[in-house]
Amino acid sequence: MRIAFFCPHSDPLAVTGEPDAGGQCIYEARVAEQLARQGHEVRVYTRRWGGKAVRQDICDGATIFRYPMGPDGFLRKEDMGPHLAEFVEHTLFRQTTWLRHADAIHGHYWDGGASALMASLALGKPLLFTSHSLGLLKRDRVPDPTPDGSKFRYDVRIRAEKKILDAADAVIALSRTERDALMGRYGASAEKVRIVPGGVDTEAFHLCLEKTKLQRQLGFSSDYLLFTVGRLDPRKGFLELIEAIPRVVKTLRETGKTVTFLIPIGPEKPSPDESAYRDALLGRANELQVTDAIHWFHRLTDQELFQYYAAADLFLCPSPYEPFGLVLVEAFASGTPVIATPHGGPTDIVTPGVNGYLADPADPPAFAARILDALLAPENERRRMRAAAAERARTRYAWPSVASAIADVYRSIRDDAHALR
Ligand code: F6P
Repeated sequence: MRIAFFCPHSDPLAVTGEPDAGGQCIYEARVAEQLARQGHEVRVYTRRWGGKAVRQDICDGATIFRYPMGPDGFLRKEDMGPHLAEFVEHTLFRQTTWLRHADAIHGHYWDGGASALMASLALGKPLLFTSHSLGLLKRDRVPDPTPDGSKFRYDVRIRAEKKILDAADAVIALSRTERDALMGRYGASAEKVRIVPGGVDTEAFHLCLEKTKLQRQLGFSSDYLLFTVGRLDPRKGFLELIEAIPRVVKTLRETGKTVTFLIPIGPEKPSPDESAYRDALLGRANELQVTDAIHWFHRLTDQELFQYYAAADLFLCPSPYEPFGLVLVEAFASGTPVIATPHGGPTDIVTPGVNGYLADPADPPAFAARILDALLAPENERRRMRAAAAERARTRYAWPSVASAIADVYRSIRDDAHALR
């Protein structure tokens, strides 16, 4: 099949630390790559900025094409709405010949969904939508702090999501929470929505049994190592995590143990928003006198990322809301159980007591209590959880099976469209 991805804000080959680059980029790159390996041809259309090449291969059979839209330089994903028609115009102008033979057009996130919708109408092609995150769910947990709503522009986003969902031939939900919201709050029909989770590269992230040895190799000498990662954004809940640290440190100290939390502080050159959040994290850690228990880090290489996951005794996901939780399956694949937010995708991924625990980061004592439960469990129990985490990643979340499930959705909407002719 020929598949077109539309994802203006999310360049699959964006470098970690680039603004608005996150799990969605990894998802697009890995799914495109796996589809190509399975014999399909994928073209990914994204916004061109920052001097990147117009055309770049992800691998043989999966290629990115970058076209301009709006002003030069970085453009926040929330501010893309007025420029999407220009993006579609550039894409259609250069790609119509290929797109005429496409089997499905797949929009990612609402900006990609809106541009994919325009292209699918222009070309009469089936439309698939993956929201990656829904405005209504995000708004519940992360209200817009600006009086005019210009930070998150939820009104524009939610209206666009509804239109895309109405027009889409099928919708991929990354979790049950998302499926329920698509149907219950956006009114999407049950037949349209299929759950296909995100995935993990089980070769790059794998079980490492010698955690203590790896911790020492990385230069960490405390008894326990806890890791969290993500872009420097209040959406990731690092401030909430810091609130839980004093209890963990105190309880462990009473048992004669020490702990180090590995927490990101974003790129060396932060944007103004990132800088404000970084100051808040550093300031709060200082006030709570827990800076000695924190190792702040900037950007990690792929190798360091795997090593941090694998060395950690626990991975922490304190997001107020997490649409799927790619980081959780990366931690699992690296043999690391998790303590994760109960809001969103993690409820599908985590089986409490088996491969981790769910705890609300908005309740720091409860979050701290779950961390302590997991750390202070008997060693055989902790070993069992590590093995269960790795097993779940391997059996449920490997990219080849995720891509096959997505290809089945393309096939079904292509066949339905043919049947209507
Ligand atoms: O833009 C970065 C990103 O993490 C995407 O990968 C993801 O789809 C999106 O943000 C989630 O956005 P929101 O903050 O709107 O939930």
